[in-house]
Amino acid sequence: MALSPEAHRALKLRFSVAPMMDWTDRHCRFFHRLLTRHALLYTEMLTTGAVLHGDRARLLAYDPAEHPVALQLGGSDPRALAESARIGEGFGYDEINLNVGCPSDRVQDGRFGACLMAEPDLVGACVAAMKQVVRVPVTVKCRIGIDDQDPEPALTALAERVRAAGADALIVHARKAWLKGLSPKENRDIPPLDYDRVYRLKTAMPDFPIAINGGVVTLDACRAHLAHVDGVMMGRAAYQEPWRLLAVDPVLYGAPAPFATVKDAALALIPYIEQVLSSGGRLHSVTRHLHGLFRAVPGARAFRRHLATEAVKPGADAGVLVAALAHVPDDALHGSSPGLALDREAGLSQTAAA
Ligand SMILES: Cc1cc2nc3c(=O)[nH]c(=O)nc-3n(C[C@H](O)[C@H](O)[C@H](O)COP(=O)(O)O)c2cc1C
Repeated sequence: MALSPEAHRALKLRFSVAPMMDWTDRHCRFFHRLLTRHALLYTEMLTTGAVLHGDRARLLAYDPAEHPVALQLGGSDPRALAESARIGEGFGYDEINLNVGCPSDRVQDGRFGACLMAEPDLVGACVAAMKQVVRVPVTVKCRIGIDDQDPEPALTALAERVRAAGADALIVHARKAWLKGLSPKENRDIPPLDYDRVYRLKTAMPDFPIAINGGVVTLDACRAHLAHVDGVMMGRAAYQEPWRLLAVDPVLYGAPAPFATVKDAALALIPYIEQVLSSGGRLHSVTRHLHGLFRAVPGARAFRRHLATEAVKPGADAGVLVAALAHVPDDALHGSSPGLALDREAGLSQTAAA
């Protein structure tokens, strides 16, 4: 059955920033939202145990400006997942996503994450349980297989089972996870990427929304993937080089960029920083997400060094960010500064501020 236009709109699958533990916290997402109004942003994974028994108000809190924002859950007990999804929807999250891709030992002990690739029926039961209790889209993020699984039947089995259970989309990290012998970090690089396997899945299931993830660095690459699948999820490249996100709205959505330059976007973070500091937060918890903001422009390294050394000091305030930004001359961000592909990719004639 083809998706209705409403369901498509609700899904926001076209471009997303991946869930990344310790990275995509609420401060990171607020900052990313200044760079793109349209990307779907994912939380770090939260286990059902944390949602049900932890400091829920703190763990699930976010700023309304972050919308659209998806909550990623880790777990494998359908009842606990359903209850966690219901709570997440109550907090206003726009999508609930189930993690079927994380390979860490801790996650394997809890029998969730990537090891669920071997249990498509259980994943289907989890999705069905969540779908019963929430109205927002329920999606799954998975690998193409694990260990000695053959990705052809393994990915098909998982996709068919979650689709039958009512999942609204599947996001596929296009490599296997090797659960024995590789660290989570190695599991993001060593098993080879196989984009064709994901494209074949989409061809076999044309009406099931599918997004691809893994190794996508440029928006040109996103555009190329979008010829085959419905969405692209970018992880490390978005976090480590957030300047790329300023081009997302013009390049992928035909919409103006929120700011003319990344420096303007960083300055717009100041009221947020003041709010964080006044409620007892620390500057570094926000500015640590900005370290990769400039690339190949004069002052980029001095900016990074200033933030890294000054933002951790007791009493550091937004003035540290202003001083760090002063290392990057304004005229370095306009015109034909070598290496600043951003201006070209962003199509800056389309910026809202231009
Ligand atoms: C620091 C870090 C933490 C991650 N944490 C999660 C997580 O909580 N949930 C998840 O599904 N994937 C997690 N991932 C995997 C990413 O979502 C993504 O699948 C992976 O990095 C591949 O995409 P990329 O090549 O664009 O980075 C994490 C990746 C990194 C680098």
